[in-house]
Amino acid sequence: MIFRIRLRAGALLLVVCGIGAALSAGDPPSPPSLAAVVPAEDMIAQVRTFETSMKGMLADEKTYQDEAHKLAREAHALAAVGLALGLYDSEHELKAAAPALVESARKLAAAKDYAAAQAAFAEVDAALAGKAKNEAAPTTKPEKVASMGQLMKQVTFVNNRLKRGLRRLGDKTDEKARDTALLAAIAQAITYDTHEVKHDEQRDQWYRFCGEMRDAAGQLNAQIKAADKQGAERAAKRLGQSCEACHQVFRPEQK
Ligand code: HEC
Repeated sequence: MIFRIRLRAGALLLVVCGIGAALSAGDPPSPPSLAAVVPAEDMIAQVRTFETSMKGMLADEKTYQDEAHKLAREAHALAAVGLALGLYDSEHELKAAAPALVESARKLAAAKDYAAAQAAFAEVDAALAGKAKNEAAPTTKPEKVASMGQLMKQVTFVNNRLKRGLRRLGDKTDEKARDTALLAAIAQAITYDTHEVKHDEQRDQWYRFCGEMRDAAGQLNAQIKAADKQGAERAAKRLGQSCEACHQVFRPEQK
């Protein structure tokens, strides 16, 4: 009996220490229920859109040379979506493929010539077909997977398209769902890239801005589907405020 009580106390102590370690200052917060932010299907649809677009840009060497910048930008964004898909709390068709998807997208983002890009894209395809496993990292690690500058370029492109599209709310709903899912994925991905945080005490602020961008993108996704014009405008405004708030603190020279 006493033995059992001691065991319990020991277990309790372990649990308490575990919580303490998990919540130590400076660690990124655990992702929220991502399924409640954006349906995984929208992120998966975005992955498929990238796959098709990349295939076109790799059709022949001339096209690749012309499109190499765009291909790299999309590859960085694909790595971010792969990471987010791996962090989903719910099951979905790319959950098991996510680590290999992230790894192959990163290779594609780093490819310097046509041959390397083709080889990396073949790995992306294999990952999406469920044929590749990342043996070194079978589960998704929350870590930096893409260049911040490249992700921000993609964010700008998608955010501008969304802003224009709000004027015709019922139009191209699938594209808007993918765009907002992509913004939420990128916001989640940059949570783990704190290289712009120069002072430790600002780390939690960084996490908060990323969370605000992610959640506002999720709200915009939901409002667009509900065809709620005012709600969508409110969410878009909140999204814009999250960009500005973060830039003000972490990119002050650009104001
Ligand atoms: C959590 C912080 C954060 C949030 C949120 C954020 N950004 Fe950024 N943004 C940055 C940082 C840091 C840079 C500088 C990146 C670099 O150049 O490496 C940047 C750079 C940029 C750039 C310049 C990219 C270039 O060409 O170099 C644009 C444009 C941009 N962000 C747009 C946006 C938009 C639009 C949003 C919101 C939808 C947004 N950002 C949200 C931190 C953030």
